[in-house]
Amino acid sequence: MNADQLLKARRHQFITILGRGSVEVFESILDRLLAWDLLNWEEYEYVKSPGLLSRSSRYLLDVIVCKGTRACELFVVVLRDVLHSSQLTGLILGNYKPPEETDKSSASRSSLASQTLQKHRPDIVRKLHGHIAAVLELLHRHGHFSKYECEEVQLPIYTPSQQARKLLDLSKAKGDDTAQVLLDYVESEPGPVKPILGNICLKYQEKLSSTLAAQSRFLTNYAGTENMCLEDIYVDCILEISNTAAENDCLSFLVGLENIFGSDGVSNKDADTVLITGEAGSGKSTSLQKIQQLWATKQAFQDITFVFAFSCRRLNFIDKPVSLKMLLFEHCCWPDDHQDEVFRYILDHPEEIMFMFDGFDEFKLQFTDEEKHCSPTKPITALNLIFNLLQGNLMKNTKKVMTSRPNAVTANLRKYLQKEITLKGFSREGIEMFIRKCHSNSSSAEHILHFVEANSALHGLCHVPFFCWIVSKCHEQLMQNGSDFTHTMTDVYLLILEHFLLHFTQSCQGINEVLLSRVATVHHLGKLALDGLTSCCYIFSAAQLQEAEVSEEDISLGFLVHSHSFSHACSVVNNRNYEFLHITVQCFFAALYITLNDNVGQSTLYSLFKHNQENTSPCMMSAACLKGWLFDCDQSGEQHERRSEVMLQEAERSNLQITASFVSGLLSGRHRNLMGKNFLIQQRCKKYKLVKKCLAKSIQKHFLSIPPAVGGEKKSMHALPEFVWWIKCIYEMQDNNLAKQAVSKLDVDHLKLTYCGIGPVECTALAYVLKHLKNPMGLQLDYNSVGDLGIEQLLPCLDICQSIYLRGNNISDQGISKLVDRALDSCNLQKIALFHNNLTDACTPYFAKLLKHKDNFLALRLGNNHLTAAGAEVLAEGLKQNNSIQYLGLWGNKIGGAGACALAAALENNTSMLWLSLVGNNVGSQGAKALALMLKKNTILEELCLQENNLVDEDMLHFAEGLQNNSSLKVLKLAQNRISRKGVEFIVKALKHNVTIASIWLGGNHVTAEEIEEMTAERRLTF
Ligand SMILES: Nc1ncnc2c1ncn2[C@@H]1O[C@H](COP(=O)(O)OP(=O)(O)OP(=O)(O)O)[C@@H](O)[C@H]1O
Ligand SMILES: [Mg+2]
Repeated sequence: MNADQLLKARRHQFITILGRGSVEVFESILDRLLAWDLLNWEEYEYVKSPGLLSRSSRYLLDVIVCKGTRACELFVVVLRDVLHSSQLTGLILGNYKPPEETDKSSASRSSLASQTLQKHRPDIVRKLHGHIAAVLELLHRHGHFSKYECEEVQLPIYTPSQQARKLLDLSKAKGDDTAQVLLDYVESEPGPVKPILGNICLKYQEKLSSTLAAQSRFLTNYAGTENMCLEDIYVDCILEISNTAAENDCLSFLVGLENIFGSDGVSNKDADTVLITGEAGSGKSTSLQKIQQLWATKQAFQDITFVFAFSCRRLNFIDKPVSLKMLLFEHCCWPDDHQDEVFRYILDHPEEIMFMFDGFDEFKLQFTDEEKHCSPTKPITALNLIFNLLQGNLMKNTKKVMTSRPNAVTANLRKYLQKEITLKGFSREGIEMFIRKCHSNSSSAEHILHFVEANSALHGLCHVPFFCWIVSKCHEQLMQNGSDFTHTMTDVYLLILEHFLLHFTQSCQGINEVLLSRVATVHHLGKLALDGLTSCCYIFSAAQLQEAEVSEEDISLGFLVHSHSFSHACSVVNNRNYEFLHITVQCFFAALYITLNDNVGQSTLYSLFKHNQENTSPCMMSAACLKGWLFDCDQSGEQHERRSEVMLQEAERSNLQITASFVSGLLSGRHRNLMGKNFLIQQRCKKYKLVKKCLAKSIQKHFLSIPPAVGGEKKSMHALPEFVWWIKCIYEMQDNNLAKQAVSKLDVDHLKLTYCGIGPVECTALAYVLKHLKNPMGLQLDYNSVGDLGIEQLLPCLDICQSIYLRGNNISDQGISKLVDRALDSCNLQKIALFHNNLTDACTPYFAKLLKHKDNFLALRLGNNHLTAAGAEVLAEGLKQNNSIQYLGLWGNKIGGAGACALAAALENNTSMLWLSLVGNNVGSQGAKALALMLKKNTILEELCLQENNLVDEDMLHFAEGLQNNSSLKVLKLAQNRISRKGVEFIVKALKHNVTIASIWLGGNHVTAEEIEEMTAERRLTF
């Protein structure tokens, strides 16, 4: 289909795309069309005349289609460049060429200034960002623009790009002299101007930064229990960026909090929002608080003039329409005077503004981009305002950072993200640092650390900062209970429950007795918590507390803390509101309520555990649920049950999953005596049986849905997102029989759990369940957050793994020492893949030991780590004593010539190795010679990969010699080196004497197309 046919046939779709897009995007399309002379000035004025975007889009299509096929082709090129690819899905757009570039410098010299401005309009619009005021000042000084015109261009309703366009349009109307002044300014390549802040803005900046400094000084959620200074307690968490732009594999790398806005890892240049995702309690809110503090105390982010921080939890409470101006001034920080000037500055300097949105998952409604809003002064709902800010319809080019739990991030939202960063909690060192910071007495810190490290499941849990805080706070009870007692998340939360209750009663009774005396409190808080969860409500008013019968005394226990007022203008959220000290604590109380209350029956439990198998939306409230049923106490047991059941289907998924995990834990045999032996014991046994049945059934149903293996391939299962949650629930139950039963019917060769957010806590649960598998299988955990702590947790199930894949999991040498220790005793384990971790030469003695002692070991892949020659030499020692390994991958390390020599020597007499990859290791001539000559003696190697190693023609002489005397090698990969025709000819000659070689890869070397043509006679060469 021609471009013009396409535009006609899909006219409706094009109009919808353009009409529903932003004005900014539409205008940047017009910029391009003007620059390529596809629109003349009249047409441009006609098309851009204010009105509905869909009407303008119709005009535009009419104009373009009238101009013929080439114009339509160029229009398609523009759409491709300007729009996000996801907006064009379903349209088959041809691959048309843009117009030929004319020499810019000569063109600009020969043509009029106004023509040059038009020709380079898209670039000039961009260049003028941040310079509008300066240019206008210049034009005014030279008498080209009146004061009134200057003001009109800078009207706050225009975005900086729109201001630049206004400026260009007005200059054109004024004639060539004006255009020349503007052109001279642009051509002088002005650097970014950071204007010196005037007094008015400076005053506002001071007020804003002192407000933020005060807000971020203490960790907000413990305001009721203790004053924890952020500065004293903060420890860096692991922040990882997945580089989806990387070509070969999806590599990831770590980033510091101060560099989150850097250029690394950007997946969408047109978007401004950096998203930080992380599981509950992983430290997202704390990280934003830290950014806030770094800016307010002038320690970082000093290119930002104003920072505006919002909590999505609290934004839910703004029930009246607000404009951007109201949001910033009334709900963040009020400028004491000159509001208009301050606001004008904000609009004019978007690149100096930062927005922070914490807890996107806590919004009551799901993200939508249907309602466009571009006016900074017109009020709309707060939610829509935020959604439009995220899309860039408002305040484009500001820095925005937002946090969310992973499952609230929809594909629709992803379109507007510049990059995604994953927050992965504390590293091993982080845990240690945190515990030391919590306990100034170094011997008690030492004691706690020792205790934690000795209990590996507990150590795994501490990787989540919030759990680490509980463990550190409750250390005394923890140690009294003994090291075997605390394994699960439920155990940890019972500790904090016990801690607060005991602290309050000051008694030395046991937990059961204290709990029994506090049944009413647990009941009230539990009801409040559950009602809140089912309606996505995390802040409670005095009236809600009253309805749930929460008394002053209940509050004083410390589980509820004052909700920080974020606005004096917002009447609902004031200091008399409360929230649980963390949402997971709210989940825990909801779980206590579900477990201990006989009002809550089987159907609620069923909904809780079946949640989302039928309903796949990640969250969120429907309008009906928002209105009805909330906190309504006067209901019969049956009504109550029905209500919970229905509302559970609507509540936020990750909180419900956490609640379900706690319910599993509380129902487990270990905690059945909670609150005394007779407390509703029969009820709880019933509930226990039901949950057990639900879990076993869900998992088995999942297994049954796995398609059979296709001919000759292994049967593989890619786990559903719920799989990890079910496994965690089983672990919380601590029921070996259930674990056995759940996996008894799993019959696969390969279990794939890539990108499933698996950290140490999940590893513990996986190992607990998978160790019961009957048949060994491959376990693929690539691109999770296993880390060294997770490796330790996985050890119990290592023996049922035939292979273990741990690519991109932040594993270091320490983790390897544990892995190898267990691998030596795991008869089934034959393959280990550790591509892209943090391994150094220090891990090689472990692998050498493995090679020496494990005589059924088949494959070791250590690509993209930090091994050098020294490491390769150690590995080579191991290899010499091994005759089972068939695959060794060292792609992307730095083993150099010496390392390659050592490996070559080890392989001379080897009788098993089929495949060796040394791609990108800078083996150079020394290494090449050794490897080539190894081929003379080796009789088994079938594939040798040496791409990207700086090999030259002389090295090919050695390979020619090697190949002449080798009869096993089938594939030799020499692509991306520095070999020229001469080198290839050495190889061609040698091939005359070699019949085993099937293919030699030579692409990306220094050979011309003609030379390649001449060598096609040797068909085994691949260029
Ligand atoms: N970097 C850190 N340094 C020290 N303590 C931390 C850090 N991050 C988190 N914590 C501790 O863990 C608690 C919970 O963290 P936070 O509230 O930031 O988690 P979150 O990821 O926002 O959880 P949610 O998903 O429920 O919103 C904090 O109150 C603090 O005690
Ligand atoms: Mg949070």
